Amino acid sequence: SAPAPGSATGAPATTDPRHRAQQGRWLTTATGVRLHDTDHSLKAGPRGPTLLQDHHLREKLMHFDHERIPERVVHARGAAAHGRFTGYGTAASVSLASVFDEGRETPVFVRFSTVLGSRGSADTVRDTRGFATKFYTDEGVWDLVGNNIPVFFIQDGIKFPDVVHAGKPHPDREIPQAQSAHDSFWDFVSLHTEAQHHTIWNMSDRGIPRSYRMMEGFGVHTFRCTNAEGATSLVKFHWKPKLGVHSLTWEEAQMLNGFDPDFHRRDLADAIESGAFPEWELGIQVFEDNPEQMFEGIDLLDSTKLVPEELAPVQPIGRLVLDANPTNYFAETEQVAFHTGHLVPGIDGTDDPLLQARNFSYLDTQLTRLGGPNFNQLPINRPHAPVNDMLRDGMHQSAVHSGVAPYQPNSLDGGCPFHATTDPDDPATRAFVEAMVTVSEGRKVRAQPASYDDHFSQVRLFWRSLTPTEREHVARAYTFELGKCYEQAIKERQLLALAQIDPVLCAEVAQGLGLPAPEPTAPLADPDPSPALSQLGDTWPIA
Ligand code: HEM
Repeated sequence: SAPAPGSATGAPATTDPRHRAQQGRWLTTATGVRLHDTDHSLKAGPRGPTLLQDHHLREKLMHFDHERIPERVVHARGAAAHGRFTGYGTAASVSLASVFDEGRETPVFVRFSTVLGSRGSADTVRDTRGFATKFYTDEGVWDLVGNNIPVFFIQDGIKFPDVVHAGKPHPDREIPQAQSAHDSFWDFVSLHTEAQHHTIWNMSDRGIPRSYRMMEGFGVHTFRCTNAEGATSLVKFHWKPKLGVHSLTWEEAQMLNGFDPDFHRRDLADAIESGAFPEWELGIQVFEDNPEQMFEGIDLLDSTKLVPEELAPVQPIGRLVLDANPTNYFAETEQVAFHTGHLVPGIDGTDDPLLQARNFSYLDTQLTRLGGPNFNQLPINRPHAPVNDMLRDGMHQSAVHSGVAPYQPNSLDGGCPFHATTDPDDPATRAFVEAMVTVSEGRKVRAQPASYDDHFSQVRLFWRSLTPTEREHVARAYTFELGKCYEQAIKERQLLALAQIDPVLCAEVAQGLGLPAPEPTAPLADPDPSPALSQLGDTWPIA
């Protein structure tokens, strides 16, 4: 049974941090002194000035004045839930991670989000959705920090501040701009055409999901997994919702933004509260770990590309069920800190330059957002595995470390077998070991491989896969969003990009904008590099 939330003596009744917050029957100060009045400040007479000695007043206001922390620079608006992940055991040939073991249940916390809006923005805007999962495995925390769209805007994380600046409110007027950030957003994607693939997914019905429960999730990057024999594979992660993928119509989304700006977070919380627990299956696409890191002409290190499921089927490896709402939004949903570098034995990153930049960025932003370096001690971030690190002190340190020698090896604190065995057959002691891969040799350069120059072949593939109704929605979305631009030159430049995708799409949007369509004979920006892709034609089911 749950421990009593405290005793009248004020003695701590439990170490559970949820109970540590509020104990005992009496209202107290933060230092545990019982209060007799919290509604009247201490004054010199009933109509007199307030006295500086009123510590309770000053403590109450001081704490209130500092209740807000900075919102996330992106993905500020989110909703989250607790749940569990159960492995099927089918990933054993690919990864030794215990989280995938057959029947093993791992607690998880999942945060869904929009990307561009502030904390108080509406839910049903046209935007990408975040789908971030924290697995509290017995081997430490694994975070799969994905989106509901399988590709990303940019190929190199060095452009992330640029694409986000282009999508966020303009610096002068601070007019909130959703995905349709209008002049600056369309300026960016028409000048950096690698962004066209992600953008057409946003302009499709995928940009306005019906519910968080009805979204796919994608790890986007290619990861490198190691099995118990030490063999490595390249892997892409996919979440498939049990309820299927569903979207709102544009008209529904517009009305909901007015009627119920909290539509998605309400839907998630209500479903869980009523026992209709949302479910997803986790699946993987597996590729040979070849030195080129290519598959069927597709560069696996380019996050603006996906691998169609017809070419590499998604193989189910486990099931996720969300069955509990957070108790406290701030403590859990707001303070959770995901990180692409939180990996466990059997799952490693790759040299995708987008992923590499993310590995720096999350830690850095959380240092500011969560007020110092000890945010992994917060209850929502704390691993469910023993922690024995040499990190000491710092702002908001809540651990009382003992000993005199926070270094290893040492001869004062009895040392520590910190060189955990790397024996993969011994899950109790195995350590995280980076996969031993050869890094490419050559000169230091600010450059990218030639395969990254293909910006349109997969955009055309996406367009070809859509039904007539879906194509109509895409054309209308481009027309509406581009119609918000003030600068005609930006609209014209984006029409040139649309001409590279499909002349009919381009002509429809041009007509909607009241502009002439660019010459349909404009040469394609690049040939389709993968023969396998061009054979997929109209048969590739996207929705
Ligand atoms: C936050 C996904 C690329 C920087 C997030 C979140 C998600 C996400 C889901 C919200 C996490 C949460 O709910 O707390 C992705 C995906 C990417 C991507 C799928 C590409 C495949 C990038 C890049 C950078 C970046 C390239 C920077 C170089 C950030 C930052 C946050 C964030 C700073 C806020 C984190 C925090 O305050 O805790 N991202 N992101 N992201 N992302 Fe990304």
